Amino acid sequence: MEQIKVLLNDEEIPRQWYNIMADMPTPMRPPLHPGTGKPVAAEDLAPIFPMNLIEQEVSTERWIDIPDEVLQKYLIWRPTPLCRARNFEKLLDAPVKIYYKMEGNSPAGSHKPNTAIPQAYYNKVFGIKRLSTETGAGQWGSALSMACQMFGLECRVFMVRVSYEQKPYRRMMMHTWGATCIPSPSNLTEAGRQVLAEHPDSPGSLGIAISEAIEDAVAHQDSRYSLGSVLNHVLLHQTIAGLEAHKQLEKIGVYPDVVMGCAGGGSNFAGISLPFVRDKIHGKKVKIVGAEPTSCPTMTRGPFAYDFGDLAKKTPLLPMYTLGHDYVPAPIHAGGLRYHGMAPIISHLVHENLIEARAYNQLETFEAGVRWARTEGFIPAPETDHVIAAVVDEARRAKEEGKEKVILFNWSGHGLVDLASYEAYLSGNLMPYELPDEEIKRALKAIEGFPKP
Ligand SMILES: Cc1ncc(COP(=O)(O)O)c(C=O)c1O
Repeated sequence: MEQIKVLLNDEEIPRQWYNIMADMPTPMRPPLHPGTGKPVAAEDLAPIFPMNLIEQEVSTERWIDIPDEVLQKYLIWRPTPLCRARNFEKLLDAPVKIYYKMEGNSPAGSHKPNTAIPQAYYNKVFGIKRLSTETGAGQWGSALSMACQMFGLECRVFMVRVSYEQKPYRRMMMHTWGATCIPSPSNLTEAGRQVLAEHPDSPGSLGIAISEAIEDAVAHQDSRYSLGSVLNHVLLHQTIAGLEAHKQLEKIGVYPDVVMGCAGGGSNFAGISLPFVRDKIHGKKVKIVGAEPTSCPTMTRGPFAYDFGDLAKKTPLLPMYTLGHDYVPAPIHAGGLRYHGMAPIISHLVHENLIEARAYNQLETFEAGVRWARTEGFIPAPETDHVIAAVVDEARRAKEEGKEKVILFNWSGHGLVDLASYEAYLSGNLMPYELPDEEIKRALKAIEGFPKP
């Protein structure tokens, strides 16, 4: 019988995360303090993050030990299976073998607990009692709610309003795990009140929700902020997925020609791909592709520039592909991909031509997701539909080129609490949303005069 799933035993779980900073072929530009224009110092970040996570943020150690307490929680659902998508391959009728890393079977339903658990753990051992965060589609907020509950921390989540309304079950999951969930923009923070004064009907954005969560964390005692993507330590934690996949493929003697992931802030894509980028830096031939929405085409149409991570300019200036910090993406259903910037690590690798990006519109992505559900069964999250559209595209290219290819991708989350978006797609009520050039030009005015990387 043909083997469809490659499994690892509990004892085979990786004991260390992989830090690409040790292997970067060229140095990355540092984050800058917006006041001084100088690289930020660890102390600048101390009101926002605990020092043990700041140390990881700036670390250049190649391998970082995963604490036992974190491994114990990972073992609830990890190692995750690596599966061959035989039925989807048949449907595509192209010379490709497709392997997917199943990150949708975590308790919260996505890859996000891979970093939620260590972030809650490191805050706890640092003496923090309460975390504030933002969430787009609710995947991150629910993952952090669960992790905080596991380590006895309070949790407050600012959820982008359009998703708060589209996805009530995510909010209920957060409540079940004991967190509070507030639609953003809200009246609880100065940043939220300012947006509401100008745009009372604002659908919200991740940039606004981040401003609210940081302000909330700084205003409360023994409280810190937690970010679900973008930053180096978040990408570090996500490498557990790529390291497992690397081991699993090795077990069956396969090496991928293409590694793919959908990218919002970049942590999911980084998680699956960075161990393979390491191979590429050391001479291996492998193509690494990130998939993003045409409504928020950060890597494919934004410039590589210094910009803020949030609307209210509370973060350091980060060197990244960006559409401008006040850009509010169209309300597509893949709420987790509605972010104006891209992780500095991913941005640097794009800039160095080590990885590439492609953009897909909402209709193409749901079409791919429905085809997946009708062959492989599992219903993907709308975010995950983006990488599935990229896999369909890659299979088409393989067919046209007459080349055999092995594709690996991260199946980042299930869509069981996103079914309203599938219904909207199936009843013909979704828009493709291309972003006009004039809107990009307008949004980029916000970063004119900023230092250049
Ligand atoms: C299922 C799923 N996949 C991918 C992403 C994108 O995540 P990242 O910010 O890690 O790129 C999200 C974000 O919420 C998500 O929920």
